[in-house]
Amino acid sequence: MERYFMFIATCVLILHLVQAQDPTRFINVDCGLPPHESPYNALPTGLPYTSDAGLVNSGKTGIIAKEFEPNYTKPFLRLRYFPDGVRNCYSLNVTRDTSYMIKAKFVYGNYDGLKIDPNFDLYLGPNIWTTVTSNDTREEIIHVTKSNSLQVCLVKTGISIPFINVLELRPLRKTAYVTESGSFKFLFRTYFSNSGLKIRYPDDIYDREWNAFFLEKSWAQVTTNLNVNVTNNYELPQGVMATGAIPLNANATMNITWTIDPPTTKFYSYMHFAEIQTLRANDTREFNVTLNGKYSYGPYSPVPLKTETVLDVKPEQCEDGACLLQLVKTSKSTLPPLLNAIEAFTVIDFPQMETNEDDVAGIKNVQDAYGLNKTTWQGDPCVPKQFLWDGLNCNNSDISTPPTITSLDLSASGLTGIITHAIHNLTHLQKLDLSNNNLTGVIPEFLADINSLLVIDLSGNNLSGSVPPSLLQKKGMKLNADNNPHLLCTTSSCVNIGHKKKSIIVPVVASIASIAIFFIGALVLFIVLRKKKASKVEGPQSQKAIMAKNRRFTYSEVMTMTNNFQRVLGKGGFGIVYHGFVNGTEQVAVKKLSHSSSQGFKQFKAEVELLLRVHHKNLVGLVGYCEEGENLALIYEYMANGDLKEHMSGTRNRSILNWGTRLKIAVESAQGLEYLHNGCKPPMVHRDVKTTNILLNEHFEAKLADFGLSRSFLIEGQTHVSTVVAGTPGYLDPEYYRTNWLTEKSDVYSFGIVLLEITTNRPVIDQSRENPHIAEWVGLMLTKGDITSIMDPSLNGDYDSGSVWKAVELAMSCINPSSTRRPTMSQVVIELNDCLASENSRAGASRDMDSKSSIEVSLTFGTDVNPTAR
Ligand SMILES: *[C@@H]1O[C@H](CO)[C@@H](O)[C@H](O)[C@H]1NC(C)=O
Ligand SMILES: *[C@@H]1O[C@H](CO)[C@@H](O)[C@H](O)[C@H]1NC(C)=O
Ligand SMILES: *[C@@H]1O[C@H](CO)[C@@H](O)[C@H](O)[C@H]1NC(C)=O
Ligand SMILES: *[C@@H]1O[C@H](CO)[C@@H](O)[C@H](O)[C@H]1NC(C)=O
Ligand SMILES: *[C@@H]1O[C@H](CO)[C@@H](O)[C@H](O)[C@H]1NC(C)=O
Ligand SMILES: *[C@@H]1O[C@H](CO)[C@@H](O)[C@H](O)[C@H]1NC(C)=O
Ligand SMILES: *[C@@H]1O[C@H](CO)[C@@H](O)[C@H](O)[C@H]1NC(C)=O
Ligand SMILES: *[C@@H]1O[C@H](CO)[C@@H](O)[C@H](O)[C@H]1NC(C)=O
Ligand SMILES: *[C@@H]1O[C@H](CO)[C@@H](O)[C@H](O)[C@H]1NC(C)=O
Ligand SMILES: *[C@@H]1O[C@H](CO)[C@@H](O)[C@H](O)[C@H]1NC(C)=O
Ligand SMILES: *[C@@H]1O[C@H](CO)[C@@H](O)[C@H](O)[C@H]1NC(C)=O
Repeated sequence: MERYFMFIATCVLILHLVQAQDPTRFINVDCGLPPHESPYNALPTGLPYTSDAGLVNSGKTGIIAKEFEPNYTKPFLRLRYFPDGVRNCYSLNVTRDTSYMIKAKFVYGNYDGLKIDPNFDLYLGPNIWTTVTSNDTREEIIHVTKSNSLQVCLVKTGISIPFINVLELRPLRKTAYVTESGSFKFLFRTYFSNSGLKIRYPDDIYDREWNAFFLEKSWAQVTTNLNVNVTNNYELPQGVMATGAIPLNANATMNITWTIDPPTTKFYSYMHFAEIQTLRANDTREFNVTLNGKYSYGPYSPVPLKTETVLDVKPEQCEDGACLLQLVKTSKSTLPPLLNAIEAFTVIDFPQMETNEDDVAGIKNVQDAYGLNKTTWQGDPCVPKQFLWDGLNCNNSDISTPPTITSLDLSASGLTGIITHAIHNLTHLQKLDLSNNNLTGVIPEFLADINSLLVIDLSGNNLSGSVPPSLLQKKGMKLNADNNPHLLCTTSSCVNIGHKKKSIIVPVVASIASIAIFFIGALVLFIVLRKKKASKVEGPQSQKAIMAKNRRFTYSEVMTMTNNFQRVLGKGGFGIVYHGFVNGTEQVAVKKLSHSSSQGFKQFKAEVELLLRVHHKNLVGLVGYCEEGENLALIYEYMANGDLKEHMSGTRNRSILNWGTRLKIAVESAQGLEYLHNGCKPPMVHRDVKTTNILLNEHFEAKLADFGLSRSFLIEGQTHVSTVVAGTPGYLDPEYYRTNWLTEKSDVYSFGIVLLEITTNRPVIDQSRENPHIAEWVGLMLTKGDITSIMDPSLNGDYDSGSVWKAVELAMSCINPSSTRRPTMSQVVIELNDCLASENSRAGASRDMDSKSSIEVSLTFGTDVNPTAR
C-alpha cells in the first residue's frame, strides 16, 4: 500500500481564528433525565445537559444501581432503556453537511438488577455503527451529516435490552479529520503525560477526551511552562501540547504499539508535535516515522513552541493487526525523538444511503398530522429493509441513490380529520391507501399533482364534496372512493358510486400504447436525470492534500529507485515500466520514456498534468515524476497484480477471476471513468480504455492507468472537440473514428468492449473468427439467445445468469453505433452495481457475518483509567 503522510503547515485562515468553537452548538443529552430537571450544568465540563424527552418517543427511564453512583458523574446516572420494539431511535436536529463528533455512552450499572451484560447494535441512520457488548462503553464517531436530522438507533439483537446513558454531539471544523471514504470510528486519543489526568472541554474546545498515558520505564517526561502555539487545523488544548515524552535512552526509538481486530481494518493516525525543550545552538532533534518498520514520514523536526500535525491522508493497515509506530532518530540528530499526542481512528463505511430527505420530512409530517404512534415508525423509514416502517413500501433497489417512499398504507389506522396536506410532499408515491378510517372533508386536488401516484384507495371514510376533476382525468388513475356516504358524484365516470365493490377507473383515451410509451420514456428520463444528479453529488473530491508533497525526482534518484532499471514490469505506451522502491520500502512502478519521441513527450506532459490534478481511488496514483532534459519518468503507485488483460488471458498463471470479482473490477473501473467525465473540472476523456490499462493492486482493486491520450472535451460551452483520432484498434469508437468529434461517449464505447471481454474472455479482434470483432461475434451469439455460449467457459457456469444478461445488455448499449444512445458512465456504474449486487446475493452467504463483526481494540497503553473524570 502506498503511504502518504501529509504535513500540515500551520497556516490557518484568519477566518478560522475568529471562528472559535461555540459550545452552544454542542448537543448534550442526559438520556432518561426527567424534563423538569432539565437542563443542569454537568461536571467536569460545565456544559448544560438536557433531557431526551422530545428526541425519542419510546423507551423507559432507569437509574444505575447505588453502588456505581460514586464512580460516575451525573449524566451517567440516568439512562433510557427500550424493552419494546426492535429498533428505537433518537432523532436529533443537526446541520446538514457538517462534520460532527458523535459520542454515545453506555454504563449498565445493573440498572435492572438482572446483572446481564449488554449486547445490542448501535446504528447511525440506516447503517450499523457498532455492537455494544461491554457494561461500560464509550463510542465515538466523526461523521459528516447528509441532512438536517440525524438518527441514532439502538437495535435489539437478542435478549439484551438496549439502553443508553449519554449522547453528545460536537460540530468540528470540516477540514480536520477527513477520510477518503466512510466515517472515522474512534480507536484511541492520548497525550503523553504521567499526570493521569483526563483533558476535555473546556480545555479542549471540541471536547475531545484525551487520556494521559506514560511508560515510566522507557520514557522521560518533558513539559514547558511557555505557551505553545496551537493554531492549526486541530486546535489542540494547551495542556496536551505543553507536555510530551522522549525515550530515556537518547539513542532508542520511541515505540507505540496497538492491535487492531480484524487485522484488515484500515485506520488513520494523527500525530501532534511541538518542540517544547529549549534547544542549544548545537542541538538538533530529527527523526523519521515508521510503521511496522516501513518508512512513512520524515526526516522531521518539531518546531519550537508551535503545533504541527502529521497525518495519514490514506488509510493504513498493519500486518496481523499488530501495529508498531516508531519514531527513529536520524544520524544528524543529537536529541531523541519527541511526541506530544496521538490519535487514531478506524474507517467504517456507511454503504446504505439515507431515504430521500423530502420523503422523510413528508412522512414525518404525516405522522405528526395524525398523531401516529407506531412502534416501527422510528429512524429511517425505508432502510435497512428489515426495519421498513409498517405500511410503507420503498424503492431502494439502487444503492447509489437515496431510497424513496413509493407506497403508503394507512388503512384502518383510526385516522380522523382531513386528508393531510403533508401527503403532498411524498412526491414519489405510487400507491396510497387511506381506506377504512374516519377521514372527513373533501378529496384534495393535490393528489393529482403527485405524478407517479396512480392507485388511491379512499373507500370506507366520511369524505364529502366531489371527486376533483384533475384526479378523474389523470391517465391511468385507479381511484376507489366507495363507501363514502356523503361523497357527491359529478362526472359520468363516477357512476359506480352506488355499487358495493367496483372502483372508479378513469377511462384512458385513444392511443394507449403511445401514451404509455411516452410515460415510460419520461419516467426513464426522470430517473436517469435524478440518478445522474445524485451520483454527481456523491462523486469523490480531489484531495488537495497530496499536492503538498514535493514529487519531482532527479534522474539519479530514479536510477537509485529502480536499482539502475533492473527489473522490468512491462511495457506501457511510449516506455518501459520498471519496478522500484521509494524511501527504501514503498514499492513503485517507474515508467521511463523512450528518448526522442515528441509524441511521447506530449503524452508525458499530459499525464503528469492530469495526475497531479486528479485523485480518485480508481485512478492509478502518481507518486512523482522526473523531468531532467531528455530523461523523463513517471513514478506510479505499484499495482501488485498487474493488468486485467493478464488475468483474463491466464498469462499470470493465477486462479481465474470469478464473475463477482470481474464485476467488481468493472464497477471500479467504471467509477474511475465516471470521475474523469463528471468529477473533474474540466471533464476528461481517457481515450484509451482497454483491459491492459486497468491495473489491479494487491487487493484486486481496479485502477485506470495510462492517461497519455487523455483530453479535456469541454471547451467553452461546447460538448465535444475535434481531435486527431487516437486510441487502440478494437476499442476505438467507430463514430469518433468517422467524425473526429470527441466526447465522453467514446470512453463508454471502449468500456463496453472491456465489458464484453470480461464476460466472454475472448480476444477483441480474432481474424480466425467469422466475425473477427468481439462486438459482432457477441451480437451474433445473442441472436441465438444462449448466454452460456457467450460466457467465459472457464467460469463453469458459476454465476448469476441474470447479472450476466444485464451486463451483456449494458455492454451492447455502450457500443451502440450512435453515441447519443449510449448510457453515461454514471448510468453504467449504477447498472453494474445492480449486477454486482445480484451476483453477490447469490454468492454470498458469508457476508451476513461480516456486517456483524465488530472491531475490537486493545491498547497496550492508555486504558480508560479514571471513570470519575469523565
Ligand atoms: C501561531 O501560529 C499561527 C499560524 O502559523 C500564526 O498565524 C500566529 O500568529 C501564531 N500565534 C502566535 C501567538 O505566535
Ligand atoms: C469504583 O472505582 C473504584 C476506584 O476506581 C473501584 O475500586 C471500585 O471497584 C469501583 N466501584 C464499582 C462499583 O465499580
Ligand atoms: C427540531 O427542528 C424542528 C423543525 O425545525 C423543530 O420543530 C423541533 O422542535 C426541533 N427539535 C429540537 C429538539 O430542537
Ligand atoms: C461491569 O462488569 C464487571 C464484571 O462483571 C463488574 O465488575 C463491573 O462492576 C461492571 N460495571 C458496571 C458499570 O456495570
Ligand atoms: C548513542 O549513540 C552514539 C553514537 O552511536 C554513542 O556515541 C552514544 O554513546 C550513544 N548514547 C547512548 C546513551 O547510548
Ligand atoms: C522499540 O522497539 C525496538 C524493536 O523494534 C526495540 O529494539 C527497542 O528496544 C524498543 N524501544 C523501546 C524504548 O522500547
Ligand atoms: C553543545 O554546546 C554546549 C555548550 O554550549 C556544550 O557543553 C556541549 O558539549 C555541546 N554538545 C555537543 C554535542 O557538541
Ligand atoms: C530517514 O529518512 C530519510 C529519508 O527517507 C533517509 O534518508 C534516512 O536514512 C532515514 N533515517 C533513518 C535513521 O531511518
Ligand atoms: C405512544 O404510545 C405510548 C404507549 O404505547 C405512550 O406512552 C406514548 O405517550 C404515546 N406517544 C404519543 C406521542 O402519543
Ligand atoms: C413540503 O415541503 C416544502 C419544502 O420542503 C415545505 O416548505 C413545506 O412546508 C412542506 N409542506 C408540508 C405540508 O409538509
Ligand atoms: C367519525 O367521526 C365522527 C365525527 O368526528 C364521529 O361522529 C363518528 O362517531 C366517527 N366514527 C367512527 C367510526 O369513529
